[in-house]
Amino acid sequence: MREISSMNDFESRIKKVLITKEQINEAIAKAGKEIDKIYDGRPILLVAILKGSFVFLADLCRAVSVPCEIGFMCAKSYYEGTVSTGVVKITMDLDCDISGYHVVLVEDIIDTGRTLNDVVRMLRLRNPLSLRVVTLLDKPSRRIVDFKADISLFTIPDYFVIGYGLDCGEYYRNLPYIAEYGE
Ligand code: IMP
Ligand code: MG
Repeated sequence: MREISSMNDFESRIKKVLITKEQINEAIAKAGKEIDKIYDGRPILLVAILKGSFVFLADLCRAVSVPCEIGFMCAKSYYEGTVSTGVVKITMDLDCDISGYHVVLVEDIIDTGRTLNDVVRMLRLRNPLSLRVVTLLDKPSRRIVDFKADISLFTIPDYFVIGYGLDCGEYYRNLPYIAEYGE
């Protein structure tokens, strides 16, 4: 837990709302339809990469109509403050064999690309029927490893963002919108 000196200090770090709740809802409804179209009635396994994508997964799974199972895995990318250290660790793996599944990985944000690059490489070795990636946010200007999502809802500039599942020091995940964070 990080020390918060005052409620005022906590709130003043939420700099500017970049994406509203309404914009998120609209984009998710569209992404749900896109997924339905791709899989055309075939069952899928939606896999949330925790912790950041738990809110997105909860809304996205209710926007798809194809039969869907839900899975969770935890990939932790280590940060020093708001800067990625490049170290990615799988701290919790899926609890099922994915070889018979059309897997859809659900990610909160692609920044350097390291997390998804590692996770996708690892999951491909398990021979899923197919593997696609849906990301809520993409910061292409920050890419270190070449990685492109199959579906990306919003492209954002190089800001550190919080809310709708995304954290800074584990706080702010419960904001219903995406905002720019600033010290
Ligand atoms: P990557 O491995 O650098 O692509 O980073 C992916 C992970 O870093 C995401 O799943 C987030 O958990 C975290 N991350 C990257 N950028 C941000 C941000 O702006 N706000 C909060 N978390 C971020
Ligand atoms: Mg995070």
